[in-house]
Amino acid sequence: MAHSQPTKELPITNYQSPFLRACYRQPVDASPVWFMRQAGRYMPEYRAIRKKYSLLEICYQPELAAEVTLQPVRALGVDAAILFADILLPAIPLGVGLEFAKGEGPVLLNPVRTMEDVKNLRPVNPETDLGYVLDAIRILRRELSVPLIGFCGAPFTVASYIIEGGSSRKFLKTKTMMYAEPQTWHALMEKLSTVLSDYLVAQIRAGAQAVQVFDSWVGALSPQDYEEFVLPYSQKILQDAKKENVPVIHFGTNTATLLPLIKRAGGDVIGLDWRIHLDDGWRLLGDDVAVQGNLDPTVLFAPLPEIKKRVDDILRRTNGRAGHIFNLGHGVLQHTPVDTLKAVVEMVHEFRRTSL
Ligand code: CP3
Repeated sequence: MAHSQPTKELPITNYQSPFLRACYRQPVDASPVWFMRQAGRYMPEYRAIRKKYSLLEICYQPELAAEVTLQPVRALGVDAAILFADILLPAIPLGVGLEFAKGEGPVLLNPVRTMEDVKNLRPVNPETDLGYVLDAIRILRRELSVPLIGFCGAPFTVASYIIEGGSSRKFLKTKTMMYAEPQTWHALMEKLSTVLSDYLVAQIRAGAQAVQVFDSWVGALSPQDYEEFVLPYSQKILQDAKKENVPVIHFGTNTATLLPLIKRAGGDVIGLDWRIHLDDGWRLLGDDVAVQGNLDPTVLFAPLPEIKKRVDDILRRTNGRAGHIFNLGHGVLQHTPVDTLKAVVEMVHEFRRTSL
């Protein structure tokens, strides 16, 4: 009698997708590539949807969020999709209130400045309070042929918006809370790391195949302040996500001096920006993590041969090591030509180790 073997769970070292393989430092033919902010205003298809719906309306409607997530996958041929959402969505159920004012970026309506404000933050249940994000993930898993990346903001970057009330350059109120009201700071970070961890784990359980934790503005901190005020909280989220057995990407900008601490906080993959050579950053991190990066998004406004020089330089600096994911050092800028991004995907895929 024909007898089929029970199917074995694939070990994590045996993924077929180049993106997932690279996250775990498995060999691949060419570095996989995706772009932070690959869905957005530089795409005509996105602008067409934004004519009818606000950013939050897109997030709230899982079908629309899924459609916008798919747009760059179809148009660019990238190796991974990133869920369309925003790192500030958890501020809504926390009771902070969120609006995106035209041309001004995010506005947090009730900023958190005192211990009383921290105590008034509401508990968040991701299944009910952010269920629309989880529904978008479930739709996408049926439609996607490349892995889906879920994400959340890291506690420092989210705290900075919640304290400042919006985007900031100097992080004056944020740092003042750290230094003058450390108990309030720690209480806020405790709360945020729990909420963000629950939210990220819920995304993984809904089907996200990898996750990225965005600590976009952490480079504003000294190493001492990072270690004391931030590291333990980011570490909690990164460790909780890792227990779910998906690759975890830890991203920040301006982090050249923080890399050893960022590695200690955790992540299978560490994001590098263009302010450090990829090989120098990787040396500081060590061979036991993968790296993601690190083209300056502004380079995409240069002529193609100039772009190719810089793409090839990054790929050469991998020196053939397994565990590189090509990306920009930060998100795609608004007026980036779509065809240029498409060309970069081809350059990365066509670069072979033999050109090293
Ligand atoms: O394609 C993707 O990368 C997925 C979607 C995504 C968005 N925001 C949608 C969005 C992701 C991953 C984010 C993360 C995010 N949001 C970060 C971390 C990454 C980074 O860029 O550092 C931060 C700091 C935010 C907060 C935020 N959201 C800001 C500061 C702004 C305004 C800036 C701007 O470009 O206007 C947003 C709005 C936002 N979130 C847009 C998009 C596509 C802008 C486009 C629009 O208004 O339609």
